[in-house]
Amino acid sequence: MHILGISGSLRQASLNSAALRACADVLPPGVSLSIADLSAIPLYNEDVRAHGLPVPVQQLREQIRAADALLIATPEYNYSIPGVLKNAIDWASRPPEQPFGGKPIALIGATPGGLGTSRAQYHLRQVFVYLNAHLLNQPEVFISAAPSKFDAQGKLTDTDTAEKLGKLLAALADWTLRLQEK
Ligand SMILES: Cc1cc2nc3c(=O)[nH]c(=O)nc-3n(C[C@H](O)[C@H](O)[C@H](O)COP(=O)(O)O)c2cc1C
Repeated sequence: MHILGISGSLRQASLNSAALRACADVLPPGVSLSIADLSAIPLYNEDVRAHGLPVPVQQLREQIRAADALLIATPEYNYSIPGVLKNAIDWASRPPEQPFGGKPIALIGATPGGLGTSRAQYHLRQVFVYLNAHLLNQPEVFISAAPSKFDAQGKLTDTDTAEKLGKLLAALADWTLRLQEK
């Protein structure tokens, strides 16, 4: 089973990208994880789309299509989804054959704040209702006070968070298998 990780932050020291990388250490047996790169995706422009999807968008769509499931790590910006992530979802979602339909997706998020990106994650859930993805409901993983949980190299040092990520990945793998059996 292959999971595609998508981080909604482009910055090198991103807490959300670090959380995604930490997931590689707690994967269930038989599950692999790769992480998409959103840095080359342009701002959405219908005039550009009229001439064909840009190559980085095509690549992202192919990665999403090829993955058995997605794991999205979202920052929270002004109580919602950061533009980088929403823009990538908007591009990838354009017809024909948007790749999110029927896709199992789990969400995580990390922030220095106290509410662990919960507001952004709930906005993302709403977006994926329209795209008819199958979001994992529980467990929810809200990584608050995140700078205290990673070292200077971005390695997760908090065992409680590592355990929560492991449980989420196990639940996502189980959810994916259940959907594939149908
Ligand atoms: C424009 C902007 C808005 C933000 N709004 C919120 C917010 O609503 N809630 C929150 O918890 N953190 C907020 N933050 C702080 C981010 O959680 C913090 O910068 C975080 O480290 C971003 O994720 P990253 O480390 O993966 O880049 C905001 C940051 C920026 C730049």
